[in-house]
Amino acid sequence: MTTSSTTPATSSSTTSTDASGILPAELEDLVTLFDVRATDSPTPDAERAAALESPRFGTVFTDHMARVSWRQGDGWLDRRIEKYGPLQLDPATAVLHYAQEIFEGMKAYRHADGSVWTFRPDANAARFARSAHRLALPALSVDDFVGSIAALVRTDVDWVPSGEDSSLYLRPFMFASESFLGVRPAAEVEYLVIASPVGPYFAGGVKPVSIWVAEDYHRSGPGGTGDAKCGGNYAASLLPQTLAQEQGCDQVCFLDATTNTYLEELGGMNVFVVMADGSVHTPELTGSILEGVTRSSILQLVADRGHAVVERRIPLAEVVSGLADGTVREIFACGTAAVITPVGRLAGTTFDSTVGDGEPGELTMAIRGELTDIQYGRAADRHGWMRRLA
Ligand code: COI
Repeated sequence: MTTSSTTPATSSSTTSTDASGILPAELEDLVTLFDVRATDSPTPDAERAAALESPRFGTVFTDHMARVSWRQGDGWLDRRIEKYGPLQLDPATAVLHYAQEIFEGMKAYRHADGSVWTFRPDANAARFARSAHRLALPALSVDDFVGSIAALVRTDVDWVPSGEDSSLYLRPFMFASESFLGVRPAAEVEYLVIASPVGPYFAGGVKPVSIWVAEDYHRSGPGGTGDAKCGGNYAASLLPQTLAQEQGCDQVCFLDATTNTYLEELGGMNVFVVMADGSVHTPELTGSILEGVTRSSILQLVADRGHAVVERRIPLAEVVSGLADGTVREIFACGTAAVITPVGRLAGTTFDSTVGDGEPGELTMAIRGELTDIQYGRAADRHGWMRRLA
């Protein structure tokens, strides 16, 4: 268990990798490594403006994508920005059979002066490297990761929206592209970044969501891939997520696979519990939980406010009884896409509890406001989290 009231939590996820971050002058050099092969049929301005008005999450994509190829023996080759479009894959492409794939989620934010920034890209690059290691994929350097993001955002800078809660969602991913049915790490790999203008992740905006706690399904077990950001984890969450919706809930929450006792995370978000004494608790990183960049940033912001932050194993039974007797005051979920989302109801086969009065919690919304103010340039970036891209 990690407890802190004045210093950031001490898990590996909260160690700031930004201290070794890339300086603006270095970023220029990294961007020039990418050969821009611009599309000859860019989206007309009026069509793009219409697409930017209220895009549903993950449905609209920009004109270009970043791409780098890897061959065993040659390493990473052919850094380029090319026209966004379908990939041609042989039916024997390894990723289609054995799911050797990883991804990241990031955002580019337009500030009031028109400049475009991203949040802690070094942390995403570090997690991408950890995920690559777990999935036996080649490591991509922080330089190539950040350079690809910056080169794509600069090429498609007109696609970065400026509205409230709007951003350009960035999806770096890497997959086994070799055509081969043997079960071994692929000798050919592709890395791409695609970009999608987005508004709020949930169609209803920032409203409390309801959560169903899955008792029959787990997302990951000890020694599994739970702390890697790989497609397989999300595939495993889809059936339980569907069952949660059949129970009238918005999202599913998983318990640990060993004892079916402790909260782990939602299908695509980490979870926090705010106690009546003001302390803020989140499941500790046991190897089966994603080391969220938003999660670690929240731990820092909460500690900055003088709250005790506690990373520990949190029994579901304690949360359910705490909701009944008032010792649990707020619950919220977090991730890059959803930012911070209040939880208004927690249900399972033997309980159905309202969180507080069912409305967004005070601390939940205060931290959400503080985080988004930093991301959108409305508040000082006191931790040096923001990187200017354009
Ligand atoms: C994110 O929050 O960016 C994620 O990757 C979660 C989800 C959209 C898959």
